[in-house]
Amino acid sequence: MAHIELKGITKTFGSHTALKNLNIDIADGEFFVLLGQTGAGKTTTLRLIAGLEKPTAGQIFIDGQDVADWGAAERDVALVLQQYSLYPRYTVRENLEFPLKSRIRRVEPGEIKERVDRVAKTLRIEHLLDRKTDRLSGGEMQRVSIGRAIVRKPRVFLMDEPLSALDAKLREALRTELKNLQMNLGATFLFVTHDQIEAMSMGDKIGVLNNGQLVQTGTPQEIYGNPVNTFVARAVGSPPMNLIAGTLAGGEAVASEGYRLPLGNGHGIATDGRPLTFGIRPEDIFLDSGAPGEARVHDVENHGVEKIVTLRTGEKFIHATVPTQTALRIEDTVRFSWNPEKVVLFDAGSGVSLRHAG
Ligand SMILES: Nc1ncnc2c1ncn2[C@@H]1O[C@H](COP(=O)(O)OP(=O)(O)O)[C@@H](O)[C@H]1O
Ligand SMILES: [Mg+2]
Repeated sequence: MAHIELKGITKTFGSHTALKNLNIDIADGEFFVLLGQTGAGKTTTLRLIAGLEKPTAGQIFIDGQDVADWGAAERDVALVLQQYSLYPRYTVRENLEFPLKSRIRRVEPGEIKERVDRVAKTLRIEHLLDRKTDRLSGGEMQRVSIGRAIVRKPRVFLMDEPLSALDAKLREALRTELKNLQMNLGATFLFVTHDQIEAMSMGDKIGVLNNGQLVQTGTPQEIYGNPVNTFVARAVGSPPMNLIAGTLAGGEAVASEGYRLPLGNGHGIATDGRPLTFGIRPEDIFLDSGAPGEARVHDVENHGVEKIVTLRTGEKFIHATVPTQTALRIEDTVRFSWNPEKVVLFDAGSGVSLRHAG
């Protein structure tokens, strides 16, 4: 399989900079997810690695070798797209055989059959092998597309939002299947998506891309618990991290709405009076009659095992996750606090976490 490195990759289209000084290191056998909004530069990154596009600056290494002069075929990567590109009048088997029948590869007929059968079994599409691909459902077609990538045994899998055209239930099922598949193959995956749930649930590592720049790289836990700035804080979690404006006074957080909440240690250097943004996840806010903050219940959403409560303090809203048995009515006055150890302090101006700023 393969180790992928991007070093100082910049890509411009005319006067537009699609990627700026991108550094990514994907370990052999890793499931790396690049998370970013539409236009962030995800597809461009994949196309550069696949050899369909040349970088304006920087280098790409596959297993330590600079691939600048390698064509797309030599790079031996498989690109799976959002829109499956199958041959509609051919059967699933023919579609799976196709990548093995190219003149460059020269795979023996016996081996072709063996590989196609094995892939069909892995993806649970054996019963579809003789069906024409235009008779398949969306999920079945996407499985066949993935099968076409796997059957070749490429060094790297590049996946460009392969699940985003599918309905929610199928997306969830294929998420699990793809992750299992990657682990079984021991393959290197670069999966790009705008869906934070996909990123959090599948990635060994996540890279957060904003406007062509990599903002943070880390495990899902690092990205979730210790976001480098308010952009990343908002990018993951549903509902996202609460971002509360305020200042510091005598070691406590003073929200601009007036309430004061305690802080723990290890937040980075902050001095009294410095304008800050306090970041706290909904599950780290709790309701308690003796707590220092006061709010009105603005909205309650039942999610089975928990409730998501929207609290209103002055003009501002705070999301809190509470146990489902918590009795709450709209417009109730409640008291709340947070877990002081889980608060992330961001500079109010730059939005950068004080932990990361050092
Ligand atoms: N061939 C191209 N010519 C001009 N601009 C392009 C081209 N490909 C991509 N771009 C621009 O580069 C930016 C990144 O695009 P893309 O990589 O497709 O983003 P994503 O896949 O994250 O939505 C966008 O602003 C897009 O319009
Ligand atoms: Mg794209």
